[in-house]
Amino acid sequence: MSVRSEFDQWAADGKDRGMEQRHWHTAKHALSRMPVESGDTVLDLGTGSGYALRALRETRGIGRGYGLDGAPEMVRNAREYTDDDRIGYVIGDFHTLPFEADSIDHIWSMEAFYYAQQPDTVLEEISRVLSPGGTVYCAVNFFEESVHTHDWQELVGIEMQLWDRAQYRAAFRDAGLIVAEQDTIPDREIEIPPADQFPTEEFDSREAMVDRYREHGTLLTVGVAPEG
Ligand SMILES: C[S@@+](CC[C@H](N)C(=O)[O-])C[C@H]1O[C@@H](n2cnc3c(N)ncnc32)[C@H](O)[C@@H]1O
Repeated sequence: MSVRSEFDQWAADGKDRGMEQRHWHTAKHALSRMPVESGDTVLDLGTGSGYALRALRETRGIGRGYGLDGAPEMVRNAREYTDDDRIGYVIGDFHTLPFEADSIDHIWSMEAFYYAQQPDTVLEEISRVLSPGGTVYCAVNFFEESVHTHDWQELVGIEMQLWDRAQYRAAFRDAGLIVAEQDTIPDREIEIPPADQFPTEEFDSREAMVDRYREHGTLLTVGVAPEG
């Protein structure tokens, strides 16, 4: 299955808005840490509903936001959710970013990077388009240490990269980025039912759900493009 066919279907089923609501629990904390200033240009890789750019326009006054996604239906939906002409949603692929070298101040990506089939190529592209001192904030919920996310692969028809924390750091460095921070952000908002309501469709036990959301949550790796 391709990114396009998988995620076009998600968009058609309205899952883009569902993801936005769920991901916002931790995404908002990661976004608030980005050193974005008024007038900056921000690129969102795997933008989905495009919520991150809308938030950065409202809260930071970014000058330009580009939301790139490989699924045309996702892009179509994202365009419908805003009429702000400082934000543009484009169909494209992580592996060949349609931007000039040193043209982007900051990159955001939530729950998208691990769908890359050649993640090292994507990081090289990120490194190429970032201006010196620019940052990439890469947030993922599917990662090695968060064991109760591993079975997601069975639900998605695209090969997913199950990296651990150290692999993210090493790959960022190999692409020429400085690793400025790595952290997990727990999801404290999702409601976890009492133990007697398990198993659920998603979790065998309450402990598993606590581990997934409260212990591990979102893994954030922050890279900085070196100056000069
Ligand atoms: C799980 S969704 C996350 C969307 C959004 N970032 C969020 O937090 O809700 C992943 C998105 O990444 C996009 N995507 C996956 N692989 C891609 C690739 N190689 N190039 C461009 N977009 C890709 C998908 O089309 C999908 O919209």
